[in-house]
Amino acid sequence: MGYEPDRIREYYNSYGDREWDRLESTHGIIQYKVTTHIISKYLHEGDHVLDAGSGPGRYSIWLARNDAKVYVSDISDDQLQQARDRISEAGVMSSVLAIKRHDICDLGEIPDDTFDLVLCLGGALSYVRDRRHQAIDELIRVAKPGSPLIISVMSLLGTFHLLAPFDGAEFLENITDHVEWDPATSFPDVMNSVPGSSEWHAPMTLYTSTYIQEFLEEHGCKVIEMVPTNTISSAGFNMDKIKASPKALKALIDLEIKFCKKSGLLDMGQHLIAVAWKM
Ligand SMILES: C[S@@+](CC[C@H](N)C(=O)[O-])C[C@H]1O[C@@H](n2cnc3c(N)ncnc32)[C@H](O)[C@@H]1O
Repeated sequence: MGYEPDRIREYYNSYGDREWDRLESTHGIIQYKVTTHIISKYLHEGDHVLDAGSGPGRYSIWLARNDAKVYVSDISDDQLQQARDRISEAGVMSSVLAIKRHDICDLGEIPDDTFDLVLCLGGALSYVRDRRHQAIDELIRVAKPGSPLIISVMSLLGTFHLLAPFDGAEFLENITDHVEWDPATSFPDVMNSVPGSSEWHAPMTLYTSTYIQEFLEEHGCKVIEMVPTNTISSAGFNMDKIKASPKALKALIDLEIKFCKKSGLLDMGQHLIAVAWKM
């Protein structure tokens, strides 16, 4: 079964504040710090930036605070309302170009060659499953030629890396109830979750870095760099002691940022970030 936009929209429409809370967890903070570290290398003052799949707007707020003009977009009206509220609370609404519902598979009225930087972070490209080619063409279409796109997807090997720490016996015993290897790609580069599997919060596709590199190149981009997020902390969903200690948290974030450059860890994180130029 392919991409079901209504299912994703309904999931995020009913997810409410929990998305922001999830992003504010220690795990979410590390992901944010590594990702903003990467974005800051490509952002210039006054840039017009698309934040596609914005969720409740944590990157939109960061972009606005860093002198960008932001177009905030998501498939979920509820997440967009949250983004509107949080951007307003942060006092940066004057840096917002628009807040609009779009599916990344169809960016609608946005003209070609509009943005200096296009972001699609946190998984929208994983949720669109078999429509990923259409989605990336749309994201590329709205970027100015010669400008960067920064995307992140769910990491396939990073997810499987958690099987032992989570003692995933039932998952392994019933693996075909959860995992479909994408027949159009070489094993094991692309994995679709089996719709209805309780192992994933929504149907999605997981990717290796090998595939993402080929995918972006196939769509005419030049890949500049790829990094993981949450490598050494990937299994640490309970990090209360670390969160309670500013010194420990800072040390962990510093290490995550240093380690994300190590090629050996590229496929070992929760998310895989890719930076590519539109040629
Ligand atoms: C995990 S949240 C990430 C939010 C934010 N980008 C971040 O990283 O903090 C994923 C977001 O992608 C949105 N999304 C999922 N599929 C999408 C699609 N096809 N088009 C646009 N947004 C989508 C969801 O509604 C949700 O708000």
